[in-house]
Amino acid sequence: MLIKTAIIGFVLAAGTAPAWSEGSGDSFRGQAYSQAMCQSCHSTKADDTASPNPAAPPFRSIKFAYSTGEAFATYLNTKHPNIMAQVNLRQAEDIAAFITSLQPGKTN
Ligand code: HEC
Repeated sequence: MLIKTAIIGFVLAAGTAPAWSEGSGDSFRGQAYSQAMCQSCHSTKADDTASPNPAAPPFRSIKFAYSTGEAFATYLNTKHPNIMAQVNLRQAEDIAAFITSLQPGKTN
């Protein structure tokens, strides 16, 4: 828990990310956000680890359909079930970069 808190603190201090529309969300920060906010339900592993919540698709298998960070943030904040925290635009961009980085043939 202390380690997780330290990682998030580092992440929040890490500065401004360029816009995701330029393909440059930060997957390292996105991984930390995903571990803090998403992996209670979704597998965030690139290997074949199952999701803790069987109804939640592993991040590596999500067909990423959001063309902008805004669209992804809106989905997470309004349509997605049971996320405990609001996700801001920069977090959404970073998480998007992390999710796409898990998928074969994609880079970020
Ligand atoms: C409380 C459990 C839970 C948490 C926490 C959670 N999810 Fe989910 N998520 C689900 C479930 C269940 C579904 C599938 C149901 C649905 O699509 O409506 C889902 C679906 C999704 C989808 C759509 C998948 C698809 O194939 O269309 C995305 C993207 C997603 N989650 C991202 C996230 C992100 C990013 C976070 C963290 C910020 C997160 N989720 C946190 C349970 C969770």
